[in-house]
Amino acid sequence: MDKAEKVMNLAVRRGFFWPAYEIYGGVAGMYVWGPLGVVLKNKIIGLWRAMFIESHDFLEIESPAIAPYVVFEASGHVGSFKDIMVSCRDCGRKFRADTLLVEKGIEVSEAASLEEVDSIIRENKVRCPVCGGVFGKSSYFTTMFKTTIGPYSESVGFLRPETAQGMFVEFKRIYESFRRRFPIGIAQIGRGFRNEISPRQGPIRLREFDMMELEYFFDPENSDCPYLEEVLDEELNLLHEELIRKGGKDYETMTVREALENKVIKNGCMAYFMVLATRFIELLGIPRENQRFKEKLEGERAHYAIQTFDQEVKLDRWGWVEVSGHANRTDYDLSSHIKMSGRDLYAYRQLDKPREVEVLEVTPLPKKIRRDYGDKIRDIMRDLSKIEAEELKSLLLKNGFIEVAGVKLSKEYFDIKKYVKQVTVEPFIPHVVEPSFGLDRIAYAVLEYAYREVNDRVVLSLPPYLAPYDVSVYPLVEDDKLLEIAEDIRDSLAADGYRVLYDTKESIGRRYARADEIGVPIAVTVDHRTLEDDSVTVRDRDTWRQYRIKRDEVSRFIDLVIQGYGFDEVAGDMGLESFVSKE
Ligand code: ATP
Ligand code: GLY
Repeated sequence: MDKAEKVMNLAVRRGFFWPAYEIYGGVAGMYVWGPLGVVLKNKIIGLWRAMFIESHDFLEIESPAIAPYVVFEASGHVGSFKDIMVSCRDCGRKFRADTLLVEKGIEVSEAASLEEVDSIIRENKVRCPVCGGVFGKSSYFTTMFKTTIGPYSESVGFLRPETAQGMFVEFKRIYESFRRRFPIGIAQIGRGFRNEISPRQGPIRLREFDMMELEYFFDPENSDCPYLEEVLDEELNLLHEELIRKGGKDYETMTVREALENKVIKNGCMAYFMVLATRFIELLGIPRENQRFKEKLEGERAHYAIQTFDQEVKLDRWGWVEVSGHANRTDYDLSSHIKMSGRDLYAYRQLDKPREVEVLEVTPLPKKIRRDYGDKIRDIMRDLSKIEAEELKSLLLKNGFIEVAGVKLSKEYFDIKKYVKQVTVEPFIPHVVEPSFGLDRIAYAVLEYAYREVNDRVVLSLPPYLAPYDVSVYPLVEDDKLLEIAEDIRDSLAADGYRVLYDTKESIGRRYARADEIGVPIAVTVDHRTLEDDSVTVRDRDTWRQYRIKRDEVSRFIDLVIQGYGFDEVAGDMGLESFVSKE
């Protein structure tokens, strides 16, 4: 049994996660997060929110998970959000080509064309992993879930494959309502949906998963990152383009300063968020040496990005797996939505000194249009309102007319004014860098890194601030006096805000073992000595070492351990008496 299988067994047995719809045979790529898993995920979200949103005073929104067709048409996903699929001629099973080849140990670029995939499959004699059959020609499969909005079949919508479009589409309202100056960060935590072709990797590849995404909007004429200074000397593990092209497989460690000076990372804030991402994943219990950023090459990147690094962590069964993507999306998304919607999604920059600009104003003349085109005026005006002012001007000047509502409307139907004015602000389209995290993969990776076996027992050494319970409380035996005190301690710790696991059944050793298995960092036990001197024991999940502590000091002890101070360190500072129980 490999580690992934062990972790998944534990997850199912103790209620972290399990495959959904099992009573009906299950659906690949769909999982349930159980009671313990939900707590773990929420704690990871809490840490992400603190590090990526709150510490910068960024803004968080929640936008719908379903969007009308036009949103993803504008964003380019309708055309580009697809994977290459191969089908077995014998059994009809379908597979995502790159995953299938990687599983067979064959390297394939994400930029490979259908023809390239077909010839790799032919040359390597790759057969169906289920029935051994031969594959037919590969084809593209769009991985967005399609639906209809309301009872109209023509009203097509998509379940979002990323939350990001919510931040772009709503950008202007947020910019105006919150009167924010650049840079502006807008984040969203929510479900993403991808109709993955053949997900077979547990919670690593799901068809419905949670994302934590931040869109950092900045003025391209002032792209200095205000947070950079603090991280310039911090190191990043980079498997960057130059290394990849030289055939390098290992990452190179360099400081942010070096990465920026050598133009390995081309945007300061992108580097800053990569440092935060490294710290974040490290705080979740995954050491830096098992993290790297792999650059995506031309053709492998999403259609909207000019530079992308995938943050990957090393997993036992699957090797390097992406947990977050860091993309420089430029003004791609806002520009696309401006074009498609015809709406003004510009921001304004204050100029240092006023500037004279030549203004050309073009206004339709409705009276004249009605005179010559009668009832068509409504359609003409409606179509005109959809054309962006700049486009209207340039078409009119270039062609001398504009075609709207089936009519060639010439210049004479417009009032065209040219004048010079002084401006102190000018419009621009903000640029964006985006760190985008997949929560489910991260939660799985956290469990895998925490998983240990000690003397045939499972211990989940989660960082204490991620544990599903902060503390367990036990009476040593089911004795009325001990029960009464233990219940009292349970209630007062719960009132202090801790999540408490209370258990009275079975031997104390069994109870410790069950709590270790789900990662409860501290056990508080009430024993007969408690009746004499009001002291209890606190036990460390990882070393099984115990200390005696006064009852009224337990809450402070838990607080310090959850903050991340070592158990022994806190016990030492508090001058506690230690002993190791025989387990
Ligand atoms: P992959 O190459 O593994 O398919 P991707 O490049 O499509 O991933 P992104 O589009 O960058 O991934 O998505 C952002 C993040 O969302 C990823 O870093 C990952 O953590 C998560 N993610 C993407 N697809 C899935 C999935 N099918 N199941 C779970 N998490 C996912
Ligand atoms: N928002 C980034 C992605 O979905 O890839």
